Amino acid sequence: MPTTQKDTSILIVGAGLSGLTTAVCLGRYKIPTIVIEKRLDFLSHPRADGFTPRTVEIFRSIGFPASVIPERPEEFKLRRARVHSLIGQWFEEIPWSALDKKGNGGSESAVEYSPYRGSFTPQDVLEPILCKRALDLGVDVRMGFQLVDLRMDESSVTAVVSDPGREKFEIKAKYLVAADGHNSTVRKILDISRSGHGHISSIKSVLFRAPEVNPYLQKGITQFIIDQADLKAFLIAYRDGRLVLHLPTELATSEGVQRALIPKALGTSDVNVEVLGYSQWDMSALISKKFSSAGHSSSETPHTAYLPTEEGAHNLAWKLALVVSGISKPALLDTYDAERRTVAWLRHDQIFARSDYKTLQKDKGADDKPHVAIEDMAMEFGELYQSRGIIGIDGSFSPAKRPDEWAGQPGTRAPHVWIQRGGKTISTIDLFCENWVILSQDLTWKDLLNKTKENVSVDVVFEEVIQNEPVPFSFEEAFGVTPNGASLVRPDGYIAWRCATLPGDANDLTKALKQVVFAL
Ligand SMILES: Cc1cc2nc3c(=O)[nH]c(=O)nc-3n(C[C@H](O)[C@H](O)[C@H](O)COP(=O)(O)OP(=O)(O)OC[C@H]3O[C@@H](n4cnc5c(N)ncnc54)[C@H](O)[C@@H]3O)c2cc1C
Ligand SMILES: *[C@@H]1O[C@H](CO)[C@@H](O)[C@H](O)[C@H]1NC(C)=O
Ligand SMILES: *[C@@H]1O[C@H](CO)[C@@H](O)[C@H](O)[C@H]1NC(C)=O
Repeated sequence: MPTTQKDTSILIVGAGLSGLTTAVCLGRYKIPTIVIEKRLDFLSHPRADGFTPRTVEIFRSIGFPASVIPERPEEFKLRRARVHSLIGQWFEEIPWSALDKKGNGGSESAVEYSPYRGSFTPQDVLEPILCKRALDLGVDVRMGFQLVDLRMDESSVTAVVSDPGREKFEIKAKYLVAADGHNSTVRKILDISRSGHGHISSIKSVLFRAPEVNPYLQKGITQFIIDQADLKAFLIAYRDGRLVLHLPTELATSEGVQRALIPKALGTSDVNVEVLGYSQWDMSALISKKFSSAGHSSSETPHTAYLPTEEGAHNLAWKLALVVSGISKPALLDTYDAERRTVAWLRHDQIFARSDYKTLQKDKGADDKPHVAIEDMAMEFGELYQSRGIIGIDGSFSPAKRPDEWAGQPGTRAPHVWIQRGGKTISTIDLFCENWVILSQDLTWKDLLNKTKENVSVDVVFEEVIQNEPVPFSFEEAFGVTPNGASLVRPDGYIAWRCATLPGDANDLTKALKQVVFAL
């Protein structure tokens, strides 16, 4: 029987990218948080390497400057080619997606969508960076602690945890965040099923160094589809000199076989190869039926477990912080499922609309209907959130559009425009960190905002928008407001409400704030 018990506001299970991102966000809001991670150490396999500009926007907004998480240099593009072997014949460069014929990751465009470029930061480098920041912010991160059981009642979630010495104890929290990955223990305990295409392929990978092939990586292509009659594989070169050879499980029957296939993929056995490690992973497309689960459906204030992804963490954390600190009500948390599950399905379907993954599908599966491919920039910056926490959603909106096709509609990401502040030029994107923000060119909104304080206690910052001519995009155009209108943006950078012109008094703003903060 577990003897000791610890109390916290939020318990996060899993210290991967999702769990650590959630931890950093909550740490910034000073919400008491414990993270438990069953592994004793971080994985040394690099895994994720390419982070999109939107992910970099999130890293910046939660306090990671370019000195900590750098952006890729302008000339670095994510490029891939189909080859016989790395030093053998190169057949063709393959565009990143069917909609991006230039093969450059879709980042080149006349319109500037973000002040940031994507990042090439290997996951084994990134996770310790996130973890250190969480610790600095006072989050209690426990490596070697595994969640083994879970119960929920009307007022709390209790996790049974085993420590590195296999001793069991309990952690009691107001809310639990299940960031324990695709094989989530929490999801299984809560009996949340998944649907979707399912398994796509099983892959074994071997991580190695071979410095003598570096000259072949100078042309800027870092991903190689190895296409030989008896070897179909995928080779990725990380910027730090490590390479990973991904092999289908059928072929990679042992570590010895994987090791032996490295020279074949490189096209030479004349170079030194230092193997760093082996790993395996499954590629599948599955979406949980629910993104949250309440202990008791009858409960007025269900104390619930939430399953986030990396971007989901950013959507969820400020909501948890508002609810746990008593400013908002649990109904706000329901908007997490509403907003993120739609996006998850959109992303799921896009996998099969894109030619590079169509070829990886063994069969079409249950999902036989054709999915229309949506442009990268629409998927990246233009996904629509729909929930009770957003006012003025039009059911006819498409699920994703390019930022220059939106014009500040509620439910969309607040667009990037350059504005002036204190003699400096900054991006609107940099305004959205911890607080709500009201943007307007008209100072009257500052007075209106002050008047709402008697009825709504949430922190909202007023930003007077000043733009010096010429700007490629005006605030009015991008946010869809007149010179005295305003846009209300959430801490995660999504527009919650807008008012095209100046209202007569503060009541409209009070009403809007109540609706979007309480989602009632
Ligand atoms: C080869 C490869 C390449 C990839 N490349 C990219 C890329 O370029 N860009 C990109 O964005 N993504 C990429 N990904 C995907 C990316 O790695 C995942 O999306 C990301 O790791 C998911 O993070 P997560 O925190 O949700 O889950 P995970 O990283 O799976 O973390 C879950 C954590 O929970 C822990 N855990 C599980 N059960 C328990 C328990 N009961 N108690 C305590 N802890 C538990 C696990 O040990 C683990 O550390 C790649 C993945 C692979 C395999
Ligand atoms: C998934 O988790 C179960 C325990 O819940 C474990 O037995 C199994 O090995 C795991 N599978 C993978 C692929 O990690
Ligand atoms: C605050 O609430 C009171 C009582 O409901 C109302 O009379 C007042 O107009 C509200 N103030 C604002 C600024 O909305």
